[in-house]
Formats: sequence, structure tokens, C-alpha cells
Amino acid sequence: MPPPEAGDAGIGGTRFNGGMRLVVLTGAGISAESGVPTFRDAGGLWDGHRVEDVATPEAFARDPETVLRFYDARRHAVAFADPNPAHLALARLEAVFGEDLLVVTQNIDDLHERGGSRRVVHMHGELLRARCTACGAASSVTAPLIERPPCPRCGERMLRPDVVWFGEMPYGLEAIDEALLACDVFVAIGTSGAVHPAAGFVMTAAAAGAHTVELNLAASEITPLFDEVRHGPATIVVPQWVDEAIATRSARE
Ligand code: APR
Repeated sequence: MPPPEAGDAGIGGTRFNGGMRLVVLTGAGISAESGVPTFRDAGGLWDGHRVEDVATPEAFARDPETVLRFYDARRHAVAFADPNPAHLALARLEAVFGEDLLVVTQNIDDLHERGGSRRVVHMHGELLRARCTACGAASSVTAPLIERPPCPRCGERMLRPDVVWFGEMPYGLEAIDEALLACDVFVAIGTSGAVHPAAGFVMTAAAAGAHTVELNLAASEITPLFDEVRHGPATIVVPQWVDEAIATRSARE
């Protein structure tokens, strides 16, 4: 795909043409208006727990019940949350861009999928998935993990949340890196840029020549790294940007 011509008209500097490849990174901020708390806004407490105190292999080894209850409570809360206009807008974007769009989310909720997105990489795992600490099999969560349901494959009652904890390797990094190196536009939505490797994705994309866009409520730790920045609630700025992206691409087809 030839790089966009300097004269390519675009949205606020974003240059689009037919076949433009997009990578969208989302963080907790995209789910905030669905009622799912972020990590670092309300003092970073989840149910009175600091994520760092429950989202680690050491915490699970030390006090598995607290960790299982913590994730069971988050799974229960997310079940009552609905996708918001930002999630729905990304699904509309996928309907137009198809395989030219990859959503990489740090979120473990399923709001992107319930909003209609299909091409989603959950680099920090998923609340609705469990992993057996006996045989390693991953499975869908069918009952609160505190009840110690059996692993569907080996039958052992040693399931943990299939969530990437601090110190563990995020999922999908090879595919994500490949997409970042090939993309023409990189968009970060609702992330503080506080946690790597996601915080470094903008630099990987920019070094490969992509136009970079931040859509966030307020300035983040990585705002200075972006070509284009739009601050406001995700339910406002994301649909706006998506509508412009779709209109620009359609005008070029
Ligand atoms: N619209 C847009 N952005 C928002 C909104 C909103 N309504 N509300 C909050 N934000 C922004 C905040 O300004 C902040 O920059 O979303 C970001 C949320 O940052 P964090 O709470 O740090 O969440 P995130 O960036 O996803 O955290 C990354 O850290 O704790 C780990 O594994 C956890 O995946 C998580 C990772």
C-alpha cells in the first residue's frame, strides 16, 4: 500500500484513502460511560482494592479467594453494563473498513463484542474466560470462579481468571506488532498510557509512518506523542471521528 500522498485530504490531519489500514487501541476510558470504572480516575480502586494488589500471580497464590471474588464481582458488574455510542461507532467503523481495521483492547470486558465489533484482540485477557492452572486449557466462565467449577477439559477445580496480571505476558503481541508496523492510522481511545507495552504502541506506529490520533477525556501521559489529539468524552469524540473516517473513505471509493 503506497503511503498516503501529502495532498490527501483528511479529517483534522488524518489522511484516508481506500484501503487505509487502521489500528485502534482502547482502554478503560471507552467503557467509563457504560458505568465500568477506570483504573486511575477514582484513585485506582476497584471494589476497595488496588488493582496491583489483586491483579498479580503473587496475590492469587497468597489469597486466591480474594482474587476470585474480585473478578467474579467485576464480571457481575459488567453483565449489567451496556455498550455505549463509542463501542457502537467502532463496530460501524469495522463494517466499512473490514479487515483494514484491528481493535486492540486493554479492557477485559466484552462491551466491544456486545457493541458489534468482531475483530478484537484482548491483550489483557477477558473476564468471561477462565484458564485451568492444572492443564492450561482456556474456557468460557459458566459459574462464579469462587465456586471452583471443574475445568471442562481435565475436570480439576483449579480455574483462574484468563486475565493477564502484572508481570505476565500480554496476549497477541506478535499480531499487534505486525498490525502496528503495517497501519496507516493509529488511534488510542480512553487510555492513560500508564502501562506498557500498550503505552508504547503509538511510537511503534509513528516510527512506521502512521498518522496517530488520541481520543481521550483529558490529556494522558502519552498525549505529546500523537499527531492529532481530540479531548472529550468517548461517547462524543469517538462517533464524531468515526463518522468523519467513514465519510472520507466513502468519498474516495
Ligand atoms: N471518555 C474518554 N476517556 C476517558 C473517559 C471517557 N468518558 N473517562 C476516563 N477516560 C480516560 C482517562 O482520562 C484516562 O486517560 O481513560 C483513561 C483511563 O486510564 P486508566 O484508568 O489508566 O485505564 P487504562 O489506560 O485502560 O489502564 C491500562 O492498566 O491497570 C492496568 O490492566 C489494567 O488494562 C489496564 C491498564
